[in-house]
Amino acid sequence: MKIKFKLNGKDVEYDVAEHKRALDFLRDDMRMTSVKEGCGEGECGACTIILNGKNVNSCMVLAVELDGQEVWTLEGLNEKGDTIIQESYIEKGAIQCGFCTPGFIMSTKVLLDNNPSPKEEEIKEALEGNLCRCTGYTKIIEAVKLAAEKRGESR
Ligand code: FES
Ligand code: FES
Repeated sequence: MKIKFKLNGKDVEYDVAEHKRALDFLRDDMRMTSVKEGCGEGECGACTIILNGKNVNSCMVLAVELDGQEVWTLEGLNEKGDTIIQESYIEKGAIQCGFCTPGFIMSTKVLLDNNPSPKEEEIKEALEGNLCRCTGYTKIIEAVKLAAEKRGESR
């Protein structure tokens, strides 16, 4: 089935198989390799994309469901220079193996777009769908706080 949608700000038209997951379509066909497969069951958030302004697990969405929608991946944020969150994760050392990181960044972006100065509890709640085996979360929360501050300053 032919789908038309916006990926990272650009119009895309593509013929996709009806059973294909958005995760596989984005990684394999669109080459958006920031989108990772962890669990494949909607539990870990490694495959998080921004779909119409919401953070969504792309392993739970079919590629055909992207038709007419707007999708952002980490590649798109980097390309348009929207990198304060990424830099804050690096500055705070909130990355170890990095497998979970793109997903965390996408969820952080949705949080800060909707709530520019979140409280710690709100950060935890916003990131509860993203799992990290390495960092113990403390540094990730610090990184989100730093990103909120830096985004506030750059306004
Ligand atoms: S791979 Fe999608 S939530 Fe884990
Ligand atoms: S940094 Fe390794 S899973 Fe999060």
